[in-house]
Amino acid sequence: MKYYAPKGLYDIKPEDIPYWHAVEREVRSTMPLYGYEEIRTPIMEKTEVFARGVGEDTDVVSKEMYTFEDKGGRSMTLRPENTASAVRAYLEHKFYGKEELSKWYYLGPMFRYEAPQKGRSRQFHQYGAEAIGSDDPALDAEMIGLAADLLKSLGLEDVGLTLNSIGCPEDRVKYVDKLVEYLKPEKDRLCDNCRARLDTNPLRILDCKEDSCQEVVEDGPEITEYLCSECQDHFDDVRGYLKQLDLEYDLDPKLVRGLDYYTKTVFEVFSSDLGAQDALVGGGRYDGLVELFGGDPTPAVGFAGGIERLVLLLEELERTDMERSGLDVYLATLDEETKKTGLELVQELREAGLKAEIDYLDKSLQGQLGYADRYGAEITGILGPRELSDNEITLRDMETGDQATVPLNEFRSEVKNHLDSSR
Ligand code: HAM
Repeated sequence: MKYYAPKGLYDIKPEDIPYWHAVEREVRSTMPLYGYEEIRTPIMEKTEVFARGVGEDTDVVSKEMYTFEDKGGRSMTLRPENTASAVRAYLEHKFYGKEELSKWYYLGPMFRYEAPQKGRSRQFHQYGAEAIGSDDPALDAEMIGLAADLLKSLGLEDVGLTLNSIGCPEDRVKYVDKLVEYLKPEKDRLCDNCRARLDTNPLRILDCKEDSCQEVVEDGPEITEYLCSECQDHFDDVRGYLKQLDLEYDLDPKLVRGLDYYTKTVFEVFSSDLGAQDALVGGGRYDGLVELFGGDPTPAVGFAGGIERLVLLLEELERTDMERSGLDVYLATLDEETKKTGLELVQELREAGLKAEIDYLDKSLQGQLGYADRYGAEITGILGPRELSDNEITLRDMETGDQATVPLNEFRSEVKNHLDSSR
């Protein structure tokens, strides 16, 4: 074998596709119930969209972006996430002048140059929602409820929600001062990156994945102690609405999320079955991002979930309803003439909405029956020269082995009746 997929990029194989479809179906059916419409932004943007939007000092921007120069000499980046692109699109198409509240959802591939491991890849897929234009804490609660609803409708019960507020930029200045004061004497225990972050972006130290940094941070100051009254009220209201919606959560005052645009509410959804510390869903409010991109101050909130991780969990749950389904009908033919009629019959079955297959491998009758069995056909039609000249066809129930001969022109309805009664 000469060629392999690049490290950290994976083929999604046909046996996994039904799980992907189940997730995609759920996203597409649930999002509109909450008023979210789909938006599709390009797979790449000018690098500055993410560098500015997500923040130069984040791991995503400083270490994980797939950035390259295109043939016109522009620096382009494969999207590592979709929020910055959504805000770019919001401003580019002047949605602020067209609708009071833009509620969008998306599904698609994202790219981050991370160390691959179970549930973490370099091309991965997110589903997500963004609501741009309101600072109502009820919207934060709706967003969290939507993220939870999607997971619940897919059958995941054992998920935990973690919540925090990281306040406004002014609150963070106060907090970061305290954090730096606390971290400076502990400098030697921090990783190289975090030592540098002490000067550039100390908040990022809180979500460093190194154990040594996590230990240091554990006993440090908590951002919730530095919230101004407006941010505190907002947080209290979000919690009140969550209670109203019966959504349980844990508070984690060290949750700051790995992207720079967040303000006020941040949240993550975990599954105890995923291992590691990786989240299924992450999101929060980003009231400053539209302004950072040159728009008027416009509050916004959103979340995104990773589909690979979700599919891993669903596969572990052995959801039979999400397994690949087999053929409905196989049509065995025995020579050139029966094959011609067989092709027509198979076409009719497909047009009637049945999954039907015929032999393309020149197999014997025995071989064709074996194929039908392997591919899960419930019924096989056997059309030999004798049946054809008598205008008949034999139906074989693949489970019981029972056979019956029916008129050719009743084949389709017989197949349908048989399938209806067995389902
Ligand atoms: P994020 O936390 O960076 O947030 O990513 C959201 C989710 O994407 C994670 O919880 C995880 O499930 C999945 N994910 C991230 N990286 C990988 C990876 N390398 N492999 C597999 N799955 C991964 C965002 O991206 C924000 N844009 C979310 C948001 C939207 N905030 C506001 N609006």
